[in-house]
Amino acid sequence: MIPRLACAGALLAGALGLQAATPAEIERKIDALVVRMTLEEKLGQMSQTTFPGSLTDQARDQIRQGRWGSFLNAGTPQEKAEAQRIAVKESRLGIPLIFGQDVIHGYQTVFPIPLGQSASWDPDLVRRAARIAAREASAVGIHWTFAPMMDIARDPRWGRIAESLGEDPYLAGVLAAAMVRGFQGESLAAADSLAACAKHYVGYGATEGGRDYNTTWIPEVLLRNVYLRPFRAARDAGVASFMTAFNDLNGVPASGNQFTVRQVLRDEWKFDGFVVSDYTAIEELIAHGYAADQTDAALKGIRAGVDMEMVSTDYYDRGKALVESGRLDAKLIDQSVRSILRIKYRLGLFDGRAQPVPTPAAASADALETARKLAAESLVLLKNQDGALPLAKSIGKVAVIGPLADSPVDQMGTWVLAGDVKAVRTPLNEIRRMLGEARVAWAPGLKNSRDTSHEGFAAALDAARGADAVLLFLGEEASLSGEASARAFLNLPGAQEELAAEVAQAARPMITVILAGRPLTFHEVAEKSKAVLYAWHPGSMGGPAIAEALFGDASPSGRLSTTFPRTLGQVPIYYDHMNTGRPAAESGTEAANKYTSKYLDVSFTPEYPFGYGLAYTRFEYSNLKVSAPRMSMGGKLMVSAEIANAGSRESDEIVQFYTRQLAASVTRPVRELRAFRRVHLKPGERQTVEFTLSASDLAFYNARGQLAAEPGKFDVWIAPDSASGPMGTFDLVR
Ligand code: BGC
Repeated sequence: MIPRLACAGALLAGALGLQAATPAEIERKIDALVVRMTLEEKLGQMSQTTFPGSLTDQARDQIRQGRWGSFLNAGTPQEKAEAQRIAVKESRLGIPLIFGQDVIHGYQTVFPIPLGQSASWDPDLVRRAARIAAREASAVGIHWTFAPMMDIARDPRWGRIAESLGEDPYLAGVLAAAMVRGFQGESLAAADSLAACAKHYVGYGATEGGRDYNTTWIPEVLLRNVYLRPFRAARDAGVASFMTAFNDLNGVPASGNQFTVRQVLRDEWKFDGFVVSDYTAIEELIAHGYAADQTDAALKGIRAGVDMEMVSTDYYDRGKALVESGRLDAKLIDQSVRSILRIKYRLGLFDGRAQPVPTPAAASADALETARKLAAESLVLLKNQDGALPLAKSIGKVAVIGPLADSPVDQMGTWVLAGDVKAVRTPLNEIRRMLGEARVAWAPGLKNSRDTSHEGFAAALDAARGADAVLLFLGEEASLSGEASARAFLNLPGAQEELAAEVAQAARPMITVILAGRPLTFHEVAEKSKAVLYAWHPGSMGGPAIAEALFGDASPSGRLSTTFPRTLGQVPIYYDHMNTGRPAAESGTEAANKYTSKYLDVSFTPEYPFGYGLAYTRFEYSNLKVSAPRMSMGGKLMVSAEIANAGSRESDEIVQFYTRQLAASVTRPVRELRAFRRVHLKPGERQTVEFTLSASDLAFYNARGQLAAEPGKFDVWIAPDSASGPMGTFDLVR
């Protein structure tokens, strides 16, 4: 719950979008301040810690001395206000603190996990959710969120795939930029804006074996064309800060990496905000084997351009000796301090912004409605045999079974620091509300997703036998994804598969809803189900969104933002792969396919491709047109197709635009998403959807690290997913 903090001044500032000084004024103020700072005060600005329990006398003294520039997860709103008062009124230079926290997928109102949000393919809705999170979090004195995370992950074993925006660099970039705009609002200085943080820079999602914190090896061409791209989009959206990752990248840990931070981020991209390390990542340079001791760790972090050290204290403890001994150039310290102060100025912290905006104790109607809509748009219908869904509300009786049907904490997902569990509406609640309690038989079957006992099976089977349809809610608990939550298997944990097998025998029909933090493998369960709806961890309002979809108030319109493997052995599997010299074919004789890139024991194709998702209607794609056979480097090309709603219900469709360059100086992916559009079509309605392409859209980094489009032949698709759709061609010419 958010306490009321009345403050008319801040309210006014928020409403007016209080403007901080102009950029030139800010630089002048920074100049004037930095010359007055001692080396200790500078190193203090470069240090972030958590409150040691509460605001102790020792903490007060340290703030007075300028020992810290920032706190994360710091105390109550009142404690934050008091700490800020001490910093501003009682420290020598009155430099304000910046309070950071992980506001990842909502604050009080919990939105779907980011992976779920990305399945909505709806940047504007994602932006609105971030705006609401910023309002709720700024109300308790938070200035800065450690979001969005835009790590590209191609391995669902990695638990942090839940926090990602999917496997595609374009989609992740568009959504990350939308989140940045949502968190930061019109002006960073507005009282209800949060500074955003693009993380984890960079390559963290490529972790070997899917194990968290593990080593990554990413050649520069791949780094630039895939892993760095969403970060560039965040930078272009004006993100205030970056967080360097935990991983070792090509032999140089990301938090001590001069190439990615100083060269790419600062020199090439001209980023002028500040860079914070991940939690103790500076000191971890020692365990990585990249720094000999704390002094070396501080030296390498600062030299790389990591401006602020999170939680470990090597900068403060060793920085002074490093400068005084001449090993560290004091100019680097000044650069870091300037970057941190710049964001503090932009946030209006020097101008008394520190007051929270009052918000109501309960989440607003707008917040709840946005959470419901985002959960609804993130639902992906994977299977719907014989139109089993939607169910008619006039159905006699349904059985609700499974460990995820009524588990508020789990449906909120991985990053929930202030989510109000009492406000969570579960699928069970909503189905009961919709049909009336008497028509809903409820039996969890298992206590939680990892439960291996069959004790609850008998009651579940009883419920199934007496019902006209079974709604089976399977998946993963929230604690099975997120940080430090890698899994070596991707199947439904515990005895869920056995439960599904037994229920399927008794059910007519069985509809499966999966709530999970990652793509799972559930081939057998899908075979036994008439329909499968993938709901991710959908947040506070997941229940209404799911119930409305199951009973036809809305057609599911989410599309997968990650490839779903058939089995773990296919991992890593992703749609924008290279072709190989011997691509396998889905058709053709065994002999013709013998020496191709495939498996002997399972198909090489995924269970469900990137971009895939069904609706309660059928969309037909036809009449693909390319406006000209050739496009010059300075020209434009229009590609269009007709999309028809050939079914009997209205629905949104996500129309996807892909290209492939057939030959180039480095090999290019078999398909790349270039654009997409959400369209709404009534039954029988058809629409021509057109995309405009220019050479800059086709640019990629070559082996020399240069960004340019290269002439050649291209295939283009306007498609419902990454594995189908009508195709056209054109040539890009000089
Ligand atoms: C995580 C970050 C997070 C930070 C602060 C780290 O362990 O990797 O994503 O922002 O903690 O809570």
